[in-house]
Amino acid sequence: MRFEGKTAVITGGSSGIGRGTVDLFLREGATVVMGDIDDAEGTAMMSTMGDDFHFQKCDVTQEADIKALMDYAAEKTGGIDIVFNNAGAGGPRDPIDEISGDDWDFAMALLLKSVAMGIRYAAPHLKKRGGGAIVNTASICAFQAGYGPIAYSTAKAGVLHLTKVAAAELAQYKIRVNAICPGFIQTNIFAATLGANKEEALEINSILGQAAASVQPVARPGVANDIAEAAAYLASDAAGFVTGTHLLVDGGMLVGTQASWDPEIPGMLDAIVPEHLH
Ligand code: NAI
Repeated sequence: MRFEGKTAVITGGSSGIGRGTVDLFLREGATVVMGDIDDAEGTAMMSTMGDDFHFQKCDVTQEADIKALMDYAAEKTGGIDIVFNNAGAGGPRDPIDEISGDDWDFAMALLLKSVAMGIRYAAPHLKKRGGGAIVNTASICAFQAGYGPIAYSTAKAGVLHLTKVAAAELAQYKIRVNAICPGFIQTNIFAATLGANKEEALEINSILGQAAASVQPVARPGVANDIAEAAAYLASDAAGFVTGTHLLVDGGMLVGTQASWDPEIPGMLDAIVPEHLH
């Protein structure tokens, strides 16, 4: 019961990583206030998640919605101790020589400004509590090309720097700020990014589930609870000396090329130099 007596605000908790984190934090004794654009699912969760769960509709691209979520959480539960700025989606997929300015702005609003405003409007409440912990969801896309769209990846890299600078500014108030960089986690984000309907989403998720065990050294799909556990650590007192950094939770995806960990894939030299010269 790491979070007994604590209030955690979690965004994007109607699905995937956020949903897994809601489940874990409730099991660990937290009162959870969840904000999500998916009103139907959030409202449905109100009737199944118990008295320690509260939902408020929140579109994280809207500054006023984020402020309202933080204020509601503090008013409803007496204060805020933990914030998980997690809501997101793949956003526009156009390459840099095609993307429109409006699409770029939308991606930044959804994935970067949302986190900045989450910190902005949580901070006064955390200060009132004498401190707290903020965890932001970034991505492996923050480090390398090829894992997500350019606008998404750029925004996630921004989340990492935002995390560092905010941690420096807020340390004086005993507020820690950290980020998590998930690898390939089996959630609905891929089907949603492709604009799939329900039926297509089931098919896409099943295909991704089968492939997910073979795309990184740890030979199983990444699941929401893997990220929830990382969020719980960073939000807990066990991480009291950890701030301004990120935790990579990717099953080793970024350790190196597939040839570095998969015996079936020839190394670079083996692939280039003909067999008889080995
Ligand atoms: P998901 O699609 O399962 O869940 C995303 C949640 O965010 C949904 O509940 C959705 O309704 C909500 N949401 C979307 N737009 C919103 C908005 N404007 N306002 C409020 N809520 C909104 O996806 P997943 O995978 O759980 O994504 C969570 C976070 O993890 C995102 O920030 C994503 O970029 C990040 N991430 C996911 C990875 C993966 O492999 N699944 C990898 C790296 C990062």
